[in-house]
Amino acid sequence: MSKIQKTWEHFGEENPYFAVVTLDQFEKENLSEDVLAEFFESGSRYTETVWKEIETNLVSDFRPKRSLDFGCGVGRLSIPIARRSGELVAVDISKRMLEEAERNAVKANVNNISFVQSDDNISRVSGKFDFIHSFIVIQHIDPSIGETIFEKMIEKLEDGGIGALHLTYDHPGKRSSVLKYNLYMKLPFVFSLRNLLLQKKQEPLIPVHTYDLNKIFRILQRNGCHKCFVRFSDHGHWGIHLFFLKDHEIIF
Ligand SMILES: C[S@@+](CC[C@H](N)C(=O)[O-])C[C@H]1O[C@@H](n2cnc3c(N)ncnc32)[C@H](O)[C@@H]1O
Repeated sequence: MSKIQKTWEHFGEENPYFAVVTLDQFEKENLSEDVLAEFFESGSRYTETVWKEIETNLVSDFRPKRSLDFGCGVGRLSIPIARRSGELVAVDISKRMLEEAERNAVKANVNNISFVQSDDNISRVSGKFDFIHSFIVIQHIDPSIGETIFEKMIEKLEDGGIGALHLTYDHPGKRSSVLKYNLYMKLPFVFSLRNLLLQKKQEPLIPVHTYDLNKIFRILQRNGCHKCFVRFSDHGHWGIHLFFLKDHEIIF
């Protein structure tokens, strides 16, 4: 098992909701039915916004037949996307996350989702999609692997299909916090020591990578995703949410 898979299996087992949305109320010991309702409500709101962006800027009345949610976690976004799709394939590197997502789908009475464990080539995912989606996932994958996954997903998109993929490209915070983050990434024992001193849980550090946007745009253009727009995101690291239509026509 790779180090990154071990990290996500750890969180899937120990603290899955907090690993997805790192707010104190989603820590395992704080979970209640009300807190979980709030957690899933955030997913519904997010999905509504994504649909609004797509229907305002790319296609009207968007109703995908087959959707892919890459890095599904506990199903926070897969469930509302599945409700708007004919069927959905939910993919994650962590078996524990997939199991929890499946339990949540049953609880939500959503039965058009299939669950697939990911690898570096998403080789277990077959067939084509008319919607590919990923949010706050690619940022955690080293670009040497993430760029391949990004392209494999786009290859699975049908002509006329829509993509909504999010990734990070910069870490502009205060110099001291950037230095601290880089130190923890390079020397994980320093991060463990910090957790010990601050009496925090001994949990692995979740990496956030920065992607080269030239490479990302090259992948989009060479795969015919010629109609594309961007919404920026800021979760400490700066990111882009890319929305695109696979349309091979070049008008300029
Ligand atoms: C921050 S969570 C986001 C979950 C979900 N997208 C959401 O917003 O609710 C990141 C998820 O990505 C998954 N993940 C990390 N690396 C992955 C990879 N290489 N392939 C597939 N999933 C991955 C993790 O297991 C975790 O469930």
